[in-house]
Amino acid sequence: MEKNIKNILITDELVKNKRKELEIDISKILSGDENQVLDFFSNYIYWNGIFAGLVTNLSSKFHLGLDFFDYEKNSIERGFFQSVGHKVAGLIFAAAEDEYADESSKEDIRIEHKTMAWFMMNKMYQFYGRDISERTIDDLMSSITSVTKRGYGLNQDSDFLSLVRYLGFHIGSEKIASYEFGIIASKMKELHPDLTNWMKNQELINGINAFSWIEVHGPVEDAHANYALDAAQMIIDHVGNKNLEFQQKVIDELENGFNLFSNLQDSFFKEYIFLKNYKKGFLYNEKFLNK
Ligand SMILES: [Fe+2]
Ligand SMILES: [Fe+2]
Repeated sequence: MEKNIKNILITDELVKNKRKELEIDISKILSGDENQVLDFFSNYIYWNGIFAGLVTNLSSKFHLGLDFFDYEKNSIERGFFQSVGHKVAGLIFAAAEDEYADESSKEDIRIEHKTMAWFMMNKMYQFYGRDISERTIDDLMSSITSVTKRGYGLNQDSDFLSLVRYLGFHIGSEKIASYEFGIIASKMKELHPDLTNWMKNQELINGINAFSWIEVHGPVEDAHANYALDAAQMIIDHVGNKNLEFQQKVIDELENGFNLFSNLQDSFFKEYIFLKNYKKGFLYNEKFLNK
């Protein structure tokens, strides 16, 4: 039977639960005062700032797959890298294209998402009459970023099934982040309309404003997720034509990577709330983060 990775990973139940949980957590975070808003975005852009580099790294590993592991002659893996590895690499890289040159800026000047995030952050501090040098990054973020790097396979094993697991993590990061950004954008409009409207009038270049970083990511991440899902489907189909047992291993690894991101996202948002409002230093999912 044909296996459809989108149906396997993105179930209606997952979408419903994720959206609900994120709504609750993000509402709680953004209901706070200006200190909490500034603090949240400071940490959030710090986390988001590493993804483009990790996506590029993963894409490159698929392209150069045969350089990372010694596969047997005539093995499925060797055949995969010889024939479609570069196509999978391209579908992953699609996410990096926007990261390094936002849609609205490509024609005459390249504006990176990281630049847009920094513009947003600076403007937020300016709105509140505060100095951005006050910005602090929570200790928690070193765990969050190190799990993210590991999830994307930075300096980790690079055999075929490991790369597939990192792709599962990438799918999770693109797909679930699209909900995250959509909810953040609507909660900002609802809970901080003055700040939001002011930010929309602060232009960086070519209509890109201080709120654009938040607003573009809902749709953009969803498009990236679709490319990543196409990449996963390409692998599943390629492997499934040769060996169904091996195909199941591929699906399992995609699920493992996807779930790792999902747990990490929970850790960030839950931990953020606990850390700020309840118990300093409490780890929502310590076992997971230390794994
Ligand atoms: Fe981005
Ligand atoms: Fe993305």
